[in-house]
Amino acid sequence: MSADNENVLIGVIGGSGLYHLDNLTLLKYVNPKTPWGLPSSPIAICALPSGTKVAFLARHGVGHSIPPSAVPSRANIAALKSLGIRAILAFSAVGSLREELAPGDFVMPDQIIDRTKGVRPASFFEGTTVVAHAAFGDPFAGKLIGWLEGRVRKVLEEASEEEYSTRGKKPQLHTGKTIVCMEGPQFSTRAESRMYRQWGGDIINMSVLPEAKLAREAELGYALIATVTDYDSWRENESAVTATEVIKTLHANAKLSRHIAATVLEELHEAAAQGDILTEEVGAMQFSIMPRS
Ligand code: ADE
Repeated sequence: MSADNENVLIGVIGGSGLYHLDNLTLLKYVNPKTPWGLPSSPIAICALPSGTKVAFLARHGVGHSIPPSAVPSRANIAALKSLGIRAILAFSAVGSLREELAPGDFVMPDQIIDRTKGVRPASFFEGTTVVAHAAFGDPFAGKLIGWLEGRVRKVLEEASEEEYSTRGKKPQLHTGKTIVCMEGPQFSTRAESRMYRQWGGDIINMSVLPEAKLAREAELGYALIATVTDYDSWRENESAVTATEVIKTLHANAKLSRHIAATVLEELHEAAAQGDILTEEVGAMQFSIMPRS
């Protein structure tokens, strides 16, 4: 693996529609070869206006060529970790399982239901002789989410009409929600969509896992900013979600996501210097490795 330490504290993972960030100066691309292969895309090392560096990785590749089940998540997390980052700010398009989470809205979930089908390598310890069980009861970095909540809400409140006019209303931020991660690539049936609602799911995507699990094993903080593109397939008398519907909302959401990233990243760096919002996962694996008898 590359031993480069780029002195970057935050890694941003962009999902569907989010293939670059705004207001950043591109310094260079790096493409660390990890024991798990190459990341989805070369990682852009960029400078914020203050000169602080951030790393950006496109989860599905630059031309969106990698389907959710084939994303090399172990290589992505290992490559970001090799740059010295402490926390990941991930973005993802999601479907809504609740009336009040409308297309165009933003959601920062705090829980996950795993409906992937075991085909995605989900642990760095797979294939080794080490048996490890990471604690994952709280899958997202609580302090980071707590810090982000106020900042993201402010950016959305101040969003110009030009930025949200395609949706006709100001986008809202919702927190404390549960995300279902499904395998795909097909969308859910109506019965599955209704079942996820009964289970307590609020939003659904195909990408938060195993990314969040691997970030925990790598002792990196991980927060997800999800952008709602559709109402999935649970609404009676409404057509079920299609890729066309998702793409329609995706681009407007991506524009606002870039605006959010550009605004919060600078402040996040300053806040990180004062406390432990980026380092709360350090030591998370301390009691996770099973001792050999
Ligand atoms: N990503 C965006 N919308 C989705 C949906 N309805 N189901 C799964 N993944 C999604």
